[in-house]
Amino acid sequence: MVVPRLIERKRDGGSLTGDEWRELIRSYTTGDVPDYQMAALAMAIFYRGLTPDELAALTDAMLSSGDRLHFDGESRQRIDKHSTGGVGDKTSLLLAPMLAACGVLVPMMSGRGLGHTGGTLDKLEAIPGFRTGLSLRDAEAQVCRIGAAMLGQTEEIAPADRKLYALRDVTATVESIPLISASIMSKKLAEGLTGLVLDVKIGSGAFLPEEARALELARTMISLGEARGCPTVVLVTAMDRPLGVACGNALEVVESIAGLRGEGPADLMEVTFALGIEMLHLAKIEGDPVAARKRLEATISSGAALDVLRQMIAAQGGNPSIVDDPQLLARAPVQLDVLADRDGVVTQVEPRALGRVIIELGGGRRAVTDTVLPDVGLEVFAKPGAVVRRGDRLAVVHARTRSAAEGVVPAVLAAVTIGDVAIPALPLVAWRVSATGEQRYGATS
Ligand code: URA
Repeated sequence: MVVPRLIERKRDGGSLTGDEWRELIRSYTTGDVPDYQMAALAMAIFYRGLTPDELAALTDAMLSSGDRLHFDGESRQRIDKHSTGGVGDKTSLLLAPMLAACGVLVPMMSGRGLGHTGGTLDKLEAIPGFRTGLSLRDAEAQVCRIGAAMLGQTEEIAPADRKLYALRDVTATVESIPLISASIMSKKLAEGLTGLVLDVKIGSGAFLPEEARALELARTMISLGEARGCPTVVLVTAMDRPLGVACGNALEVVESIAGLRGEGPADLMEVTFALGIEMLHLAKIEGDPVAARKRLEATISSGAALDVLRQMIAAQGGNPSIVDDPQLLARAPVQLDVLADRDGVVTQVEPRALGRVIIELGGGRRAVTDTVLPDVGLEVFAKPGAVVRRGDRLAVVHARTRSAAEGVVPAVLAAVTIGDVAIPALPLVAWRVSATGEQRYGATS
């Protein structure tokens, strides 16, 4: 295998054979193919795409580069959900305990923040002592015992994706449908699932903002999942504004606990229930959406979901008392209100810009090696369409120092625009896509 010739072929619009993909990914995983060649190939894929056969070969090669979770002899359904990434999106923290409380097994392997988006692992690590680095054997045992485990992509799972994902983050090759599909599906297919729900974001804060590309991504991932025996459903959801109020690691844990107490923001709960309904449907526990929602609500009102969360935190080395006393979580020393500078209507709450503010405050990474601060972030109260008066509170900055807080106020004000006429926001859940086709969410077929 002469790698420059393969890069050249892809660059010029040709395709690689299955054997070539397998050999390439094997050699990249062992370090025999260096990052600079893989980066060039990723850019060629970014521009030229992959044929369906190439995508299948790449995904399978990345999947086979590591180990998998095994649930031999386990008859319960195993369902995960994964999002393409957003700001304020903490639905995973709610769904894992809620679904486990319904009898579904949730082996949930999550990622760290990528670009301007937050990562579930960084949020979980805001819980004192919480270990996301479980071994696969420990994760399997915990899932069977408690119903859920939330872990990071270990060295053992799809190591080729681990390397490629980090490389793409720094080579401007994230926003590629085949690369995102192979990356997400190689990890998810290693979880030993019986079904998968994907949340594909659209809007200015999404990696692929346009609806048409999001739908293509959805169809691509569904066909990869279905062809490998993993029924897959996608909801296309809004990321033209942050989800919920809290944006930042510990703040999002606090809001997730509030959600599991029945006190979550309406938009967050709407998306959480929509995804949970699909998970219950795939788990063959409840096919009727109204009844499924009631079941999910019951896990909140009965306290069963909070109970699973307590058990999961304890099992993973964290302090379960944070569930009953979220004040035990780190709180930034400075809180600064950001006030509306005019009367009007909120026309835009730009998630990408707000995600960058969180990174500026230290709540996300600029480089892979950066340490993430658990306590900093934003509470964003402004929602598109809200009528505001000059002096109303739009957001609260949580920062380590007063000067850090003051430093980001102009960026927050620029991200939350106030005008005279409301601009329609995207529907919170826009599309449902499955193997049988796509339909606008809520429309009857
Ligand atoms: N999430 C992933 O796991 N991979 C991507 O490429 C993008 C989002």
